Amino acid sequence: MLHVAPMAAVTDRHFRMLIRCVSPLPTLWSEMTWDTVAIETVDAEALMGFSAAERPVVLQLGGSQPERLARAAALAVSRGYQHINLNCGCPAGTNEWRACYGARLMLDPRLVATPSRWARRRRPSVKCRLGVDGRDSYDGLVEFVRLVSGEGGVRVFIVHARVALLTLNAAANRTVPPLDHERVLRLAAAFPHLTFIINGGVTSLEQAAALIARGVRGAMIGRQSVTEPYLFARSAVLSGGGGAARSRREALDLYLTYASEAQAANWGGGHPVTLARALLAPISGLFHATESGSRWRRAVRAAMQERGRLRDCPIADSGGRAARRPPCGGTAALAARRTVARRGRK
Ligand SMILES: Cc1cc2nc3c(=O)[nH]c(=O)nc-3n(C[C@H](O)[C@H](O)[C@H](O)COP(=O)(O)O)c2cc1C
Repeated sequence: MLHVAPMAAVTDRHFRMLIRCVSPLPTLWSEMTWDTVAIETVDAEALMGFSAAERPVVLQLGGSQPERLARAAALAVSRGYQHINLNCGCPAGTNEWRACYGARLMLDPRLVATPSRWARRRRPSVKCRLGVDGRDSYDGLVEFVRLVSGEGGVRVFIVHARVALLTLNAAANRTVPPLDHERVLRLAAAFPHLTFIINGGVTSLEQAAALIARGVRGAMIGRQSVTEPYLFARSAVLSGGGGAARSRREALDLYLTYASEAQAANWGGGHPVTLARALLAPISGLFHATESGSRWRRAVRAAMQERGRLRDCPIADSGGRAARRPPCGGTAALAARRTVARRGRK
């Protein structure tokens, strides 16, 4: 029902794990992975590795060549991904067949239908826009879905409720083209046998619930997940379930335990400072909208600048520079930091 959108340079395994520490419910999405890179990488674990606790997790692929996509998808499935997605929404790429990817693929639905066939057995989904400049009518969108589902066998569509303007850069394409949720809802009503997940401008669970109540199967949240990762704490309410949500400090404690293990094992095998920064980055928004949210954010950012400490100390200790003056006057985060730091030194 709830999905955390794929975001390049954001939704790495650490960010996904933070969301998982907040809630077991939302489906997590990888950053887009190029088909070629997935096939040729010498370190598939660094590129596509994920922790079992992250499930359900979707791998998003970028590309357009059926053979390459098929190979990349097979590799992903062999690594344990249950769902594969094709990126048809990024407003980038060239119009040459070999390099074509993202929203440009919407200009020719058969380009999408053909690559989609490779993965029929792999339960592929397509993440697309309402259209692309020059092909952005509602009828064009219907034709896209009809062809990609009919010829390509795709059953799940994630629709970012904006047209992609290929003359604008990616960031502008998330703000300049107007949002049109109604068009996605109309599309979902026109294809009741298919699954639609709405994306774009969803910033609260209440808004997600209202859209789901109007006929889409789920809602995908992107930027607000970064600003406010704790928003997913009440996800159970959306599924009709109750139960107490984890507190921010419980989520932090869980995450710091994970981070300490990742650091001790030097996941990714890169520079320890780089890893430590990557592990700290996801928690900067954890106390958003609390009294001390901005102080926490600044403290995490400051901790990310302390090279020596990042290199030499357990992550919980470095991250704990922020927890040293715990938000909301609590001491639990500090206690968690000390516990985890002790564990990390053993
Ligand atoms: C930093 C950043 C990176 C993104 N990278 C991807 C990507 O790799 N693949 C993709 O399909 N969309 C990507 N997107 C788009 C988001 O998945 C989403 O469609 C968009 O942000 C609109 O949702 P929102 O309004 O909830 O943020 C990215 C967005 C941001 C902000």
